[in-house]
Amino acid sequence: MSSQQPQGACPFSDPRHLFQDLAATRATDGFPYSQVFDSRVVSRYDDITVALHDPDTFSSTATVPEMPPPFREQFAGRVPSRGTLIGLDNPDHDRLRAAVNTFFMPRRLARYEPWIREQAHRLVDGFVEQGNTDLKLSFARPLPLRVIAHVVGLDVERADWIGAALGFFLGPGDIYHSGTPEEKAQLLLDLHDYVLEVMAERKHDRRDDLISHVWDMRDAGTVEMSDFEMLSLFPGLMLAGHDTSSNLICTGLSHLLADPARYAAAQQDDTSRAAALEELFRYESAITGMKRLVTRDTTLGGVPLKAGEQVFLAYASGSRDTSRFSHPDELDLDRSWAVPHLGFGQGVHACIGAPLARLLLRVELDVLHERLPDLRLAVPYEALEYTMVSEARGMVALPLAWTPVPVTERTAVRAVEVAAAEAVPVTVAARRALTTDVVELTLTVDQPERLPTWEPGAHIDLELPDGALRQYSLCGRPGAAELRIAVLREETGRGGSVTVHDQVQAGDRLRIRGPRNHFRLRPADSLVFVAGGIGITPLLAMIEEAERRGTDWRLVYLGRSRERMAYVDDLVTRHGSRVETWPSQELGRFDLAGLWAELPDGAYVYACGPEELLSGLEDAARRVGRESQLVVERFAARPATYEPNRPFEVVLARSGTVVTVAEDDTMLDAVNRVGANVLSTCREGTCGTCEVHVLDGIPEHRDSVLGLEERLANQTVMTCVSRCRGRRLVLDI
Ligand code: FES
Repeated sequence: MSSQQPQGACPFSDPRHLFQDLAATRATDGFPYSQVFDSRVVSRYDDITVALHDPDTFSSTATVPEMPPPFREQFAGRVPSRGTLIGLDNPDHDRLRAAVNTFFMPRRLARYEPWIREQAHRLVDGFVEQGNTDLKLSFARPLPLRVIAHVVGLDVERADWIGAALGFFLGPGDIYHSGTPEEKAQLLLDLHDYVLEVMAERKHDRRDDLISHVWDMRDAGTVEMSDFEMLSLFPGLMLAGHDTSSNLICTGLSHLLADPARYAAAQQDDTSRAAALEELFRYESAITGMKRLVTRDTTLGGVPLKAGEQVFLAYASGSRDTSRFSHPDELDLDRSWAVPHLGFGQGVHACIGAPLARLLLRVELDVLHERLPDLRLAVPYEALEYTMVSEARGMVALPLAWTPVPVTERTAVRAVEVAAAEAVPVTVAARRALTTDVVELTLTVDQPERLPTWEPGAHIDLELPDGALRQYSLCGRPGAAELRIAVLREETGRGGSVTVHDQVQAGDRLRIRGPRNHFRLRPADSLVFVAGGIGITPLLAMIEEAERRGTDWRLVYLGRSRERMAYVDDLVTRHGSRVETWPSQELGRFDLAGLWAELPDGAYVYACGPEELLSGLEDAARRVGRESQLVVERFAARPATYEPNRPFEVVLARSGTVVTVAEDDTMLDAVNRVGANVLSTCREGTCGTCEVHVLDGIPEHRDSVLGLEERLANQTVMTCVSRCRGRRLVLDI
């Protein structure tokens, strides 16, 4: 409870006046107390964003109310006591969110679009001939439920039952399912049991869904969590995922349809739909705001707050703050995105499902536009009813009308085809010790027609006997009938190399996935290969390719001692003086800076090896402004320590505009100030919304959503947090 006592009638009791009440609150000094939110209301944009980006002072434990006493015991150990991610603080929040945020990146979710589209058409088939419907009941509510069930990995045919079970959390706000709280509590327990069953299935039988993704993250050692913590992730995500999406399409459509010209302008194409949605998220989000608990005495916007007080961060108010948005109470489909709205919050707790909501709503608008001619509101705009004011904002119903059309054969919509890459069974045809701690495996593919083609620089995922996946560079010859990898035993590693050394023998059956290649050889006048220890493996095939192309090349092969440098004798025998070996125990440190002094223009340096070597090469290249001539392959992610920010330039390739990103600025804000309109949600590198393609230059990745390979590929960058390792980035915007 807030320490501040109620003073007078609470303004937020009538949903029709929500935005006037919020405007009045913004004009009031301090943070007035609200009975409806049982909190002091923070209504100004700058105050809200400060609190959102300071989760240590503004705890999220207040976001989810404690389970009411009658159910606390019944749910103990089976349902999380304070909801899910949304009610967690760090370190647990970031640890658990890391298991799911990588799944919700827009680029990765795009594979669901055909499936969502097909589901939307099926629902429209059910009412298109009627000429009228309550769109909330027939479309806006069932579709997100089906989508989120499918994405999580549950049975889509049970979507309505899932919605009823999640209704427990909505209390009287669940206007779609009857039943006593006790009945709904039992449904919720049944839902958790069902999710547990699916988790157990997916543990051994992975599919293309969120539950499998979290198992993959756990297996890879990326995220540590208990099975109960894993279970706790899904119902909360499903609740947020379906309810907010359902509300957003209803309120959004109502505002568009209130003016037929506006609806037509929004429905021109996918770009106009996406732009309209952003303005609609600003204008009326499905989230009125979220509570936070103040953890220590502090001030916010000059207003003192005491530890233990509860504040309500009113996103809906911040997005209409005149100090940040011009004519904020108007729906302006051409509005600049220079100031990010708060429709999905910001910071570590920004709506994790925002990318899915954006995709779903864009498809919904498109399908409704295609199928329902002359779509219009069936009641006056002013007569539309809103649900009572709470953390969520939504409509009771959305009665629509259109010219009825018979259901005909629709153009067949392809079902989603993207599935996880199939594993290929292989046999270990030979095993050979190259040094005391490097073993080479020759793998033959059981079905020769499934032998993957590959190019120098590629690697495969090797599925080990214990099910773990490890990545190894292919070091044989592309086109050969077998694949070869070499594995360095690392006692302090994650255990994969020790398993290979101790358990994998000739004749064993394994499985591989891939290959993938983020270390491709570019055309070059000349090439310098730099290998550190086992980093020689991807370079072997590159050397052969350079020979085949007739490219001038040389190899600098660094290692501790000659005896421990795999393939060294063979390389020297075959290529003589092109190979410079550098055993550090004999010769000391190699002069990395000297390498660049001799490097001709038009040459590239390809390097693979330990972090110290690669960082040293990068630093040396940067000092002489030649980073663009260096291509590296890392064994592990670059450590998350960054140099102090330096200014750099961004070229917006589509317009040719050049902007400077100052030390204290972000790439995202800099490009949006000149009209790039890059979407964002979290602004902390955790959601993937602000990802753009990189055409040239090397990003310094500071996000937590790109995987190692994606970082190394440097094909995209998260503009909200990442920077540039050189002086300039060219972006495809
Ligand atoms: Fe979320 Fe950039 S806005 S990663």
